[in-house]
Amino acid sequence: MIEILKNIPFFADLPEEDLNAIMENIQLQYFPADHEIFQEAAIGDIMYIIKRGKVQVIRTNAVIAELSDNDFFGEMALVSEEPRNATVKTLTDLEVLTLNKADFQHLMSSNPTIASMISYEVVNRANDLN
Ligand code: CMP
Repeated sequence: MIEILKNIPFFADLPEEDLNAIMENIQLQYFPADHEIFQEAAIGDIMYIIKRGKVQVIRTNAVIAELSDNDFFGEMALVSEEPRNATVKTLTDLEVLTLNKADFQHLMSSNPTIASMISYEVVNRANDLN
């Protein structure tokens, strides 16, 4: 698992100590193509980082984005504590790493580089929603 994490740019620069902490709870999950990972307006407490594959982000029936290898999604509900802004559906078979809320919060508070990368994306995506 540590080798998988090191190959994902999102985690690549983390110190070994942080990687070890994350590894305790991070999970590798697989979804088939054409599968809904979660629905808009659902309560969410997991963030996903795409290891391999492609998803569509759908808001009120319109596709607003496609995400693929090394992109992440599901972070907005964790940052805002609000329901999911969009539905996320797989376009291909998907391998993702999943982080629970406690680990996500720990990562944000202990790693400024990751925190600023996620915040930047949250602000951009939030602007897109309006
Ligand atoms: P969340 O609101 O938890 O669940 C839906 C996810 O879709 C959201 O987090 C983001 O990760 C993602 N998302 C929302 N808007 C966009 C966008 N404009 N571009 C890419 N991803 C988005």
